Amino acid sequence: MTLTLVTGGTGHLGRDIVDRLVGAGHRVRVFARSPGLRSDIEWAKGDLATGTGLREALRDVDTVINAATCSPIARRGGIRPIDFFRSPSAVDVEGTERLLSLCEDAEIRHVLHVSIVGLEEATLPYARVKLAGERLVRASALSWSIIRAMPFYYLLDRLLSGLAWLPVWPVPTTLFNPVDSSDVADYVVTCAFDGIRGERAEIGGPEDLDLTAFARAYLDARRLHRNILPIGLSEARARGMGFVVSKGVRGRLTWADWLQRNDPGLRRVA
Ligand SMILES: NC(=O)c1ccc[n+]([C@@H]2O[C@H](COP(=O)([O-])OP(=O)(O)OC[C@H]3O[C@@H](n4cnc5c(N)ncnc54)[C@H](OP(=O)(O)O)[C@@H]3O)[C@@H](O)[C@H]2O)c1
Repeated sequence: MTLTLVTGGTGHLGRDIVDRLVGAGHRVRVFARSPGLRSDIEWAKGDLATGTGLREALRDVDTVINAATCSPIARRGGIRPIDFFRSPSAVDVEGTERLLSLCEDAEIRHVLHVSIVGLEEATLPYARVKLAGERLVRASALSWSIIRAMPFYYLLDRLLSGLAWLPVWPVPTTLFNPVDSSDVADYVVTCAFDGIRGERAEIGGPEDLDLTAFARAYLDARRLHRNILPIGLSEARARGMGFVVSKGVRGRLTWADWLQRNDPGLRRVA
């Protein structure tokens, strides 16, 4: 049986990818700083930022799915002034470079790298870091694929919940189509094994809605009463902030259904 290594397998997308791989009967190894307790997968302890454990993790591996990232915004669920000036590159650039070089040494058959839609026009430093990581993959001599995805619902949820203390929410009036990580994971796993390589069609969610509509749906679902102050943005500004509508593949789960499935009140009752 072939062996697939998932970096970032403890993250939001990575966990969904691992579930699908295991469900489909694949042998899976997760590269993680803190190995978990799951016993139906192999754990390889290591750190992409330093390279510790990476060479050993690649032993006997056929396919690598690189879903690791260091996004301070996603991690804390909010944007701070520092995020407009810099974003750490140790995982997404130097870590990717290290991973690619060791994959070449280990003669890995396929490296699938996860990235983000619209990076060329996005201006946040995290986007510049992701673009630099992508360029390394494209320039590598390996057999590679890149999948770009729209922002995940969990991130939108975190960003909106961070506004809860404000009575009035300033929200840009701009179209975009965020997606659930479970839909992205389905697509990633399909692309990992369908034999096609290179730049794959990007994936976004099923609905192209104004960001204010996403915010209103969030307020309704969470039974919050806040006023929304629509903020007009030029198209260039919106693209710079990553608000685009993806082309290509569409996920199925809607924002309303995701909000219902992830209702913190219902989770407490359950
Ligand atoms: N979030 C979005 O909206 C979004 C949208 C489009 C594309 N993407 C892309 O999708 C991928 C996954 O994103 P996500 O939101 O699922 O990420 P996430 O939940 O923040 O998970 C990041 C993963 O990377 C691992 N990681 C971080 N630093 C590491 C290090 N030094 N060494 C090894 N592993 C490390 C984390 O491990 P720990 O458990 O040790 O922290 C975690 O497993 C990324 O490539 C991201 O750019 C994300």
